[in-house]
Amino acid sequence: MASITIRNLDDEVKELLRQLAAENDRSMEEQARVMIRAAVDGQIGPVGRLDQIEKALLELANSQGAPTVASALAVKNLPRGTLSNKRILLIIGGGIAAYKALDLIRRLRERGAAVRVVMTSAAQEFVTSLSVGALSADHVFTDMFDRNDEHDVGHIRLSREADLLVVAPATADLMAKLANGHANDLASTVLIATDKPVLMAPAMNPKMWSYPATRRNRATLGKDGITFVGPAKGEMAESNEAGEGRMSEPLEIIAAVEALLDAGPKPLAGRRIIVTSGPTHEPIDPVRYIANRSSGKQGHAIAAALARLGADVRLVSGPVSIADPAGVKTIHVERAQEMRDAVEQLLPADAAVFVAAVADWRTENSAGEKIKKVAGEGPPVLRMVENPDILAGVGHHERRPGLVVGFAAETQDLLRNAEAKLSKKGADIIVANDVSQTSGIGPSGVMGGDRNRVRIVSRTGIEEWPEMTKDEVAARLAALIAARLKTIVV
Ligand code: CTP
Repeated sequence: MASITIRNLDDEVKELLRQLAAENDRSMEEQARVMIRAAVDGQIGPVGRLDQIEKALLELANSQGAPTVASALAVKNLPRGTLSNKRILLIIGGGIAAYKALDLIRRLRERGAAVRVVMTSAAQEFVTSLSVGALSADHVFTDMFDRNDEHDVGHIRLSREADLLVVAPATADLMAKLANGHANDLASTVLIATDKPVLMAPAMNPKMWSYPATRRNRATLGKDGITFVGPAKGEMAESNEAGEGRMSEPLEIIAAVEALLDAGPKPLAGRRIIVTSGPTHEPIDPVRYIANRSSGKQGHAIAAALARLGADVRLVSGPVSIADPAGVKTIHVERAQEMRDAVEQLLPADAAVFVAAVADWRTENSAGEKIKKVAGEGPPVLRMVENPDILAGVGHHERRPGLVVGFAAETQDLLRNAEAKLSKKGADIIVANDVSQTSGIGPSGVMGGDRNRVRIVSRTGIEEWPEMTKDEVAARLAALIAARLKTIVV
């Protein structure tokens, strides 16, 4: 191994090796030997720029007759976790939570991600670029105008050569800068120059988090397409301070990264799942219909969450104004009878989740022409007939899916009504939610709003979930469905 000839490396790798050797004050041969030894010893291999050099060196050593490196090479080429081949640009802001960024780097790399780091000058007051660089195994970028920096790749390249930008901790200042388009240091410039998704993990004192300007900036950034993870509630580093403002834990940030990069586990791969969502419109005549306040947000979020876990999702949606979820096959219907027909055609399936607010009744005959006001005749009388119960039909179907999940929208006697629906409809799980105006969930309530508080009612008991966003309810329900399907032998 000592005799490998570096001359044979291709020029790009040679240049990378030269830079790395200079950084470590070694000759290129020494640097190559250190790296090969580390790889052969089975240390967790470097990723990103180092990975490229290491692989080239191993291949070279192997071709020059160094048998011990063959197995190391095979290990290097194994897929190493959920984030392998993903490039993360981590921007560390100046806050006490910066110390958690060190753990975040380690965990991202463990999952195979290449991590490049930009630190603000305030961040360097909390953690050193030396420790960040040691963990990321790459140069740490701190200065916008360092002409002497041979690693100066420029802010555009920095922001584009990543799959995702993660800001952790995201300080009030960094949020304000991005919300208002400021770019006066490397971190803020990289953020507004990027064409990649951005994930922010805010961390600040609860008073700063609830300050009106911070609230406005949070809302603006949300509208601009920035994804947030946290902050969480809890004790602050300052003594006697508690509230919302703690940075999410590294593992929660990793889960958000995996969700954004669609890189998480796929426990539902190969499973076919039907979801109904939205209201139905029952026509009175060609221009009028009976509807309800369902927005489709919860059902669509569940379809998307199941698809993220790898399921082949067929979403049967009533008329909604939101977009079809990504990665899901959506069938659009208007009336309850059309929804029933579409669902039945999709059987068999491994699971079905009935979230739609199906109209219980339709008019007996919808008029073929617009109903006119006729002087002296008074308002028309609409005779209603019952719509098919789609959930009950599938729950008792001969081709019933292994797992049937229904919702119970109630304004009173939530649990008693939910338990009754469980057996009446032949469901395994009823997700019960209080849709009354007094549910305590925002001014718009559950129907049409973005938040939900549900209880999971099944034959094994009742589980109460805290109030969360509809996306969070969806993710948790999808995980529950994945866990339940594992126990069903198909
Ligand atoms: N459901 C359905 N088809 C219907 C009515 C309801 O598939 N015609 C499903 C809903 O998608 C939901 C569950 O049944 O999963 C319960 O819906 P909900 O509106 O809460 O109850 P209803 O069955 O309509 O009963 P009620 O109006 O008496 O509460």
